[in-house]
Amino acid sequence: MFIKAASLVLLLPVLAGFSQAAILPEKRLDNSTSCCGYVVTNRGDGYFKNQHIMDFSTLTSIDQVIKAGWKISHGYRAGGINRATGQQPWGNKTAVQIAPGQGMTLTVKGGQSPNASFFSVGEILMPWLTLGGVFEIEAKLTGVFGTTMGIFTYHAGPGQTKVNLGWEDEQDFEMMGETLFKGNKWNKPGMSVLNYEPKTGAKSGAFVPFPAGLDPTADFHTYSISWFPSTSSSNPGKLTEYRFDGELINTPPKYASVNPSNLIINHWTNASPMWSAGPPVEDAVLTIRKVTAYFDKPMAIAAGTDVIKDTSCSKELACRVTM
Ligand SMILES: *[C@@H]1O[C@H](CO)[C@@H](O)[C@H](O)[C@H]1NC(C)=O
Ligand SMILES: *[C@@H]1O[C@H](CO)[C@@H](O)[C@H](O)[C@H]1NC(C)=O
Ligand SMILES: *[C@@H]1O[C@H](CO)[C@@H](O)[C@H](O)[C@H]1NC(C)=O
Repeated sequence: MFIKAASLVLLLPVLAGFSQAAILPEKRLDNSTSCCGYVVTNRGDGYFKNQHIMDFSTLTSIDQVIKAGWKISHGYRAGGINRATGQQPWGNKTAVQIAPGQGMTLTVKGGQSPNASFFSVGEILMPWLTLGGVFEIEAKLTGVFGTTMGIFTYHAGPGQTKVNLGWEDEQDFEMMGETLFKGNKWNKPGMSVLNYEPKTGAKSGAFVPFPAGLDPTADFHTYSISWFPSTSSSNPGKLTEYRFDGELINTPPKYASVNPSNLIINHWTNASPMWSAGPPVEDAVLTIRKVTAYFDKPMAIAAGTDVIKDTSCSKELACRVTM
C-alpha cells in the first residue's frame, strides 16, 4: 500500500530538478507511525491525523484483535430490530473469530429458531471514535440467504438523539445474501449504500449492483467509505463517497454524517423478510481480511465538536499515502 506513495515521493524531486530536501520535508518519506498526519493521494488528498491498518489474515487469535483495541459487541443489540415482530439481533463474542490465513470471521449460526426473540450475531468496532476519515475494508461475503452484512460509520453514544427519536447519523454499506445478485419484493440486487439523517432517519442512497460477472462471495473485494464531514476543520466538507474495488459507485446527495462516529462491521439477522430475511438455515460467514483507515478523532463525544489536532503538524508535513 505504501509502495505507490513511496515511489511517487522519490520521483518528484527528479522531475522538478530540485534537491529532495528543498521541496519535500523529510517526514514525507517516513511511513512509520511517526508520520505527522497522512495525505491520502487517491482520496482527493484528504488529510487525516491517524492511521490504523489491521491485516486480520496474519493473526492467529481473536485476542490479538481485542489487544489492538477493537471492541466486540456482546450481550446487547447489534443490528436492526424487526419492527413487525420485535425480534432483535444481539452481539455474541463467540460469533467473531480469526481464521488464520484468511481473516476475521463474523458468523451468524445456522439453525437458530425463526421464532427466537434474540438472534446471536457478530459485530465489531474499530478502536477510537472518528470524525472524518477514509476507511477501506477487504471482505469476502456470504451467499447464504438470511443475513445482512454491514460496513458503516455510526453516531457514537451516549445517543444524543436515539432516546427521543430513535435515529442516529449513519453512513452504511449493507449486503444481503439473498439479494446479492437478484432483487426480491423489497430490495434491489447488490450493495445498499445509504446515509441517514440523525434526527429524522430520512435516507439518501441507492442500491448498486455488483459489476457484471463478479461474485463477491468467491473472493475478497474492497468496500470503502470516504467521509469528509462539514464539522471537521481538517478538510473541506464533501458528500460521502462509497467505493467498490476502488471505483466510485455512489455519492448520496444528502446526509453526510456530521457527528463523532464508530466504524462498525457487523453480520446479523432479525428474520424480517423486508431486509435481512432469515434466520439462515446454515452458518453464514462474512470474512474480513484487512481494514485500512486514515481518520481524525473528535475532541469530544458531542455534536459540534471539531477534531483533535497537533499544531506542530500540517498537511505539508504529512506522509503521502495511497489506499
Ligand atoms: C516504508 O515503506 C517501504 C516501501 O513500502 C518499506 O520497504 C519500508 O519498510 C517502510 N518503512 C517503514 C518504517 O514502515
Ligand atoms: C453466545 O453464543 C454461545 C454459543 O452459541 C452461547 O452458548 C451463549 O449463550 C451466547 N451468549 C449470549 C450472551 O447470547
Ligand atoms: C413459530 O411461530 C409460529 C406462530 O406462532 C408457529 O406456527 C411455528 O410453528 C413456530 N415455528 C417454530 C420453528 O417454532
